[in-house]
Amino acid sequence: MQIITSVSEMQTLASSLHAQGRTIALVPTMGALHAGHVSLVTTAVGRAECVVVSIFVNPTQFSPNEDFNKYPRELEADIAKCEAAGAHVIFAPPADQIYPKGYSTYITEEFIARPLEGVSRPSHFRGVTTVVAKLFNICRPDVAVFGQKDAQQVAVIKKMIVDLNFTVAIVVAPTLREADGLAMSSRNRYLSVTQRQEALAISRALFKARDMVASGERRADRLVAEATHILSQHRRIRVIYVSMVDADTMEPQREVISGRALMAIAVWMEDVRLIDNIVL
Ligand code: PAJ
Repeated sequence: MQIITSVSEMQTLASSLHAQGRTIALVPTMGALHAGHVSLVTTAVGRAECVVVSIFVNPTQFSPNEDFNKYPRELEADIAKCEAAGAHVIFAPPADQIYPKGYSTYITEEFIARPLEGVSRPSHFRGVTTVVAKLFNICRPDVAVFGQKDAQQVAVIKKMIVDLNFTVAIVVAPTLREADGLAMSSRNRYLSVTQRQEALAISRALFKARDMVASGERRADRLVAEATHILSQHRRIRVIYVSMVDADTMEPQREVISGRALMAIAVWMEDVRLIDNIVL
């Protein structure tokens, strides 16, 4: 496995792979990899001849008051996990390779990025679209793999691809969960034992909505009320949103249309911000 830290070296490699007629799959990550990330690498391995995992804690997607400085960084362990999963290249540039002094160009998706995460993190998706567009230009993937865990991110990136005429195909991998239901996340490590226990209410709320839909419930207000009720039983949880939206546009829905409706939840578990979702 090759480890690349320079943009020009990555671009040279991508060009030479394309010149040889070989395909490239990209798995963008911010590192501190868990089994959910590794499942994206495994998904990518079957889909292209060269699998590139990017590891870059992207400063532009964090607000000034967020956890950029304390975001976990463990490159050695990440490299070992990627190698074991069958990746061929790790692209782990330092920040000044991606944002050199004087950097001033940003990409903003202006519709799907607005609600949900966009309300409390107004500059978040601008950072995500900017870095992902740059990673597409640097790594030139034929296919890129993203996780359903960040459903709004998937929708925003798909829209950016259409709007900006990128030719990369997107594969969305399912959310990997702990055995008890908690969605895997790099931020779960910040949870105390008690917080971790109470955080189970998030997946329980989503699974309850799924069960209600299976029993015939279609009304979004009833599903949202029940999920909110489950979350509100826990005094450490502060609900940021519980929303029923269209999975592609993130617009609010009144009725569940199977396969298109997404229930999205964000909460503060004391000082840890957690998100999760389910397609209904
Ligand atoms: P990060 O949070 O490191 O996540 C990298 C990828 O792993 C994303 O596509 C995310 O949806 C996916 N992922 C996270 N938890 C998962 C889980 N439990 N199951 C399946 N997939 C999971 O998302 C980002 O980084 C950044 O915004 C990035 C796209 C890299 C741009 O900086």
